Amino acid sequence: MRAVAVFPNDKIVKVIDDHSEPKLERDTEVLLRMVDIGVCGTDREICRFDYGTPPSGSPHLVIGHESLGEVMRTGSAVTRVKPGDLVVTMVRRPCPHPTCRSCRAGRQDFCFTGDFTERGIKGRHGFMTELVVDDEQYMHVVPPHLRDVGVLVEPLTIAEKALIQIWDVQERLPWTASGRSTADGHGQNALVLGAGPVGLLGTLALLARGFEVWVYSRDRETDAAAQWVASAGGHYVSSQTTIIDQLSVKTGNIDLVYEATGASELSFQTLKVLGTNGVFCFTGVPGRKSPISIDADLLMRYMVLKNQLVFGTVNAGPDAFAAAVSDLERFRTLWPRQVMSLISGRFPPDTAIDLLTGPARGIKNVVSFLA
Ligand code: BGC
Ligand code: ZN
Repeated sequence: MRAVAVFPNDKIVKVIDDHSEPKLERDTEVLLRMVDIGVCGTDREICRFDYGTPPSGSPHLVIGHESLGEVMRTGSAVTRVKPGDLVVTMVRRPCPHPTCRSCRAGRQDFCFTGDFTERGIKGRHGFMTELVVDDEQYMHVVPPHLRDVGVLVEPLTIAEKALIQIWDVQERLPWTASGRSTADGHGQNALVLGAGPVGLLGTLALLARGFEVWVYSRDRETDAAAQWVASAGGHYVSSQTTIIDQLSVKTGNIDLVYEATGASELSFQTLKVLGTNGVFCFTGVPGRKSPISIDADLLMRYMVLKNQLVFGTVNAGPDAFAAAVSDLERFRTLWPRQVMSLISGRFPPDTAIDLLTGPARGIKNVVSFLA
């Protein structure tokens, strides 16, 4: 079977045609034919050999963790999916340690030990191949009319997990204590850092909840990303024309910063403009560059005097996947053109090598073995 694989020891990324076909081995397992596989920054890092671990005993790792698959066959005990269904499969699998409370509770996205595995990233083959087998408990059904955009579910889970936690932490504010159930951002200003797929999907998730959304990025105000944001109902601010210190003049009190750049300097500079009672959520993983200097006194002072909260979030649990599926359906109705345009192209596997190792281009590039 064909697959896109990295060989970390030999520093090679290539399409292989002898990856062994997975078989149904347990009666709770499901066989999928892969429809779409998204390419993200993590995949590109794996292909630079900065990240990524093959399964033990294998010289290669099949990459790909953003996926949409079609159910082909199911084991005898499978009840949640049936042949023909479209599904998105979760990425992380629990660590084996009995003492890991999060993994034992089915919340390996909060694993304590670090001994979790991740499909296409750490210790397990991924989805950039023709057929995949996994347990039904890790699959989320996507309605058939979302077939052309269903591959966006996994990247959207980053914003969904962030938002679930943001409602949780903001319940500390007595007057929003009921905020969780209403999930209402009306009257609040959110600043999104970065206009890549994570930032733009986060923008839609925030707009859908009523936030006033400001996207801050390098692109100019006349560029496509800026027009995209404006057409969805957000505001775009270019770092080429507005310095960070001027941001809150435009936005007013910044209640939430959703970081989606992985750029540490920009992020910590922006922490300075976070508003009173604000929350700053990091989602990006910075590369290992030389240390940056930050005004720690000022930041600590503001965090205390403004009751601020800063947190990071990685991976996603079943609640975030379910929220991503239902949000994507909402986005599809509210912003059909904008959602479609996030997918910059569908490419056959041979072209994937260039998408993974060549210069970054487009928004969300998708690999399809059916193309
Ligand atoms: C994936 C997550 C994963 C993280 C770290 C991200 O690109 O979306 O599922 O946990 O990388 O490996
Ligand atoms: Zn664990």
